[in-house]
Amino acid sequence: MQITLSDEKYKKIDAEFELVFVLSKKFDTDEVKSYKDTLEMMNFKGEDEEVLLLSEAKKIFVGCEKLDPESIRIASSCVIRKIKATKIKSLKFSILENSSEHLSALVDGFGLGSYSFDKYKSVKKEKFKVEVIIHCDDVSKEMKHTLEESLEICKAVNMVRDIVNTPPDDFYPDIMASFAVDLAKECKIECKIYDEKYLADEGMGSMLAVGRASRHKSKLIHLTYSPKKCKKTVVLVGKGLTYDSGGLSLKPSDFMTTMKSDKSGGSAVLGIMQVVSRLKLPIEVHGIIGAVENMIGGNAFKPDDVLKAKNGTTIEVRNTDAEGRLVLADCLCYAQDNIQDIDYILDFATLTGACVVALGEYTSGVMGHNNKLKHQMFEAASKSGELVGALPFNRYLPKLLKSEIADICNISSSRYGGAITAGLFLDKFIYEENKDKWLHIDIAGPAFVEKPWGYNPHGASGAGVRLTISFLKNLL
Ligand code: BES
Ligand code: ZN
Ligand code: ZN
Repeated sequence: MQITLSDEKYKKIDAEFELVFVLSKKFDTDEVKSYKDTLEMMNFKGEDEEVLLLSEAKKIFVGCEKLDPESIRIASSCVIRKIKATKIKSLKFSILENSSEHLSALVDGFGLGSYSFDKYKSVKKEKFKVEVIIHCDDVSKEMKHTLEESLEICKAVNMVRDIVNTPPDDFYPDIMASFAVDLAKECKIECKIYDEKYLADEGMGSMLAVGRASRHKSKLIHLTYSPKKCKKTVVLVGKGLTYDSGGLSLKPSDFMTTMKSDKSGGSAVLGIMQVVSRLKLPIEVHGIIGAVENMIGGNAFKPDDVLKAKNGTTIEVRNTDAEGRLVLADCLCYAQDNIQDIDYILDFATLTGACVVALGEYTSGVMGHNNKLKHQMFEAASKSGELVGALPFNRYLPKLLKSEIADICNISSSRYGGAITAGLFLDKFIYEENKDKWLHIDIAGPAFVEKPWGYNPHGASGAGVRLTISFLKNLL
């Protein structure tokens, strides 16, 4: 698919089909009026997600009940899916409002809605080659810049979707590490890969234990984008469980499928690193990924084991399926020990089923101590189109992680509040001076889509990428 901007006279723009937005279910604009009878005959009401293709008239009508960015994203994704099912080669329309906000929403809808993953299909779909021409009265520098930026972000989200959708036998820690090395080369950023010997030498017994029974060795990936002029230093830490079987606390079969998506946090970090370097944002950004596979076997770590993390904290394992926090604990310590002058430290993880129970499958949970920082994240979310909700810490919940034998237990003693107690477990590994700089983002809900919604087809959604880019851009 190719998206271009044009300020030529609309009538002169050469395209096979024209797209018409039907706003607020009203058929009163000039473009729509003349088709009113036909639309009514076809029972088209102009509701959200409603698309009608009139092949004789060479027009596609799409409903858009409100003119906010998210409705535009959804409408344009419905259109592009409709077109994908045809042999239409080109489409034109006039932008509804000559603004960057509208343009980026349109591009998001087209770019994210048209995604499909057919790598493992023996019969591949034809490459999608449609040309979308967006007519604006004035193609300003700002509009061109917005188009480029939005395309770059969509590309990264779709790359993350490809990674997460890839089956675990084809995407294990070593592959994740070489993917990061290749990405770093392409984006001209730094990449360091640390193996299990390094983890052992550095006392990262918590992360090491999780990967012990896997035939794939764990890797710690550290990507650095360090531009000459930078205003802030941001650290992103991602859970990269290339597969989570649950370990000896084995998941029931129904819950194990989709666990290839447990690498979504780490994958999002890869996507974000690609965007920040391509857009040349004036921010130093570090991406740290704990790439590990949680399996069973004679040498697996066990409930009852006591592990020691990099900061010396001892952890009683009571459930090997609460493994993400064990990996992140050491990654968070690694980040704080090795990166100077951190302004923000954000972690991304498909950490708990409890977060999905609390907020539903569309929304990521945001946790942390700093309310101002949380609000920055909420604002970033509302601009990006990703959904987030706050899950509040309190003074009582940390007590649920008490252990009789070690400093802390890896699961809570209560069945309730599991997303927050997981966040509070991570808090034990955030150093005092960084408490107010840290946010934990649990993406377990939106990371993997089992029933398509919005502009997300089945499979990985790329959650976290657009959210974080929006957060970073707001820092400038
Ligand atoms: N990767 C899972 C969390 C998860 C669940 C992600 C569903 C996406 C969808 C995590 O490692 C896990 O298994 N967590 C346990 C924690 C429990 C043992 C305290 C959970 O949520 O059940
Ligand atoms: Zn688990
Ligand atoms: Zn997990």
